[in-house]
Amino acid sequence: MNGYGNIGRRLATMFSADKEIQFIGVAKYTADKKTRDALDSKFDVYVPKSNLKQFTDSNYEVSGTLEEAIKQSDIIVDAAKEGCGFDNKKRLYEPMKKAAIFQGGEDRSGSRSVANMIHNSRVNYEKASGKMYVIQGSCNVSGMGRIMQPLAEKFGDEIERYDVTIVRRWADLEDSKEMRDSVEWDRNPHHQKDVKDFMPTANLFVEAYRVPSRMMHVHQMLIRFKTKAPSKDTVIEVLSKQFGVAILNSAKGSADVRRKALMLGFQHGDTNMVHIHQEVLRDQDDVLKILYTDDQTGMVIPENHLLLQSMVFRRPKVEAIKKTDTLFQISRRKRILEQEFE
Ligand SMILES: NC(=O)c1ccc[n+]([C@@H]2O[C@H](COP(=O)([O-])OP(=O)(O)OC[C@H]3O[C@@H](n4cnc5c(N)ncnc54)[C@H](OP(=O)(O)O)[C@@H]3O)[C@@H](O)[C@H]2O)c1
Repeated sequence: MNGYGNIGRRLATMFSADKEIQFIGVAKYTADKKTRDALDSKFDVYVPKSNLKQFTDSNYEVSGTLEEAIKQSDIIVDAAKEGCGFDNKKRLYEPMKKAAIFQGGEDRSGSRSVANMIHNSRVNYEKASGKMYVIQGSCNVSGMGRIMQPLAEKFGDEIERYDVTIVRRWADLEDSKEMRDSVEWDRNPHHQKDVKDFMPTANLFVEAYRVPSRMMHVHQMLIRFKTKAPSKDTVIEVLSKQFGVAILNSAKGSADVRRKALMLGFQHGDTNMVHIHQEVLRDQDDVLKILYTDDQTGMVIPENHLLLQSMVFRRPKVEAIKKTDTLFQISRRKRILEQEFE
């Protein structure tokens, strides 16, 4: 696991629990207290050769260099801070002929592109089979695919366009960075292009705003149909059958869902899902309005686990979902959340 930040530490917890995988360890770059957290979690910690002194001076027990860890690995899950994945690929993975999964903060196109596909397990799991380099879509992009694909399959050409407004959290629970009292807009939300990478025919428009909250993302999705929008019951029936989509009825805001996950003792306080807020799902003339919350830190963790099964084990999707569900207990936790927010 190259990187041990908000996403890397969650990925490390899950991948190290999978008995089928020999988990080599995590890479740290800064000798800070998160190194102690990694060691306390019984992970072997590897550091870049050039940073070794920093760690030994701080008395952290390091297992070796990053370069040595990569040499031992068949695949690297890169959880680097945004934009570092490209340099890691060029400096380490490509010369050492190692496969890698990159996270959603990396570029899919342009001169710093790290891979030629973005994975969304609901849409293109099979396409990742045996590939060397794949990007796991970001939390928002993962959530959008999970909602849009089943609707596209059910209603096909009847759908005219999707308009999505993403309300993004400012920081994650663990972040110490200050939140500015401001609602900020995004000049060029990457989510639109990213989703169209795996759903190229979707007529999709995305706007994104950042708000001073730590409690999940909220998506307002408006879907315009050629004629009348389907009924609420029909839509709920389709979405309720989806893996990692919970149908809730009584949450008042994103914090209710996050606090519930913490209270129920879910690992890292994550639900690892999207949550449809049924009480505000509306159909009006030709428009369907869906409001859902997207667990910013948790969404991509089972997605990475599925992606690895496609890339490394070339496992059929049904079996991979079964395995990921056993490890993450997604279906069980979905039922619990649905009961809690009945
Ligand atoms: N946070 C979310 O909710 C979220 C959701 C979905 C996707 N993502 C994506 O996941 C990726 C990681 O995000 P994050 O929130 O986990 O970031 P983060 O908390 O800022 O952590 C970034 C980590 O990268 C490490 N690092 C620094 N230089 C590196 C390098 N050259 N190679 C590898 N790692 C390096 C840092 O190590 P040190 O601490 O040792 O300096 C740190 O542990 C990004 O692409 C992001 O867009 C994030």
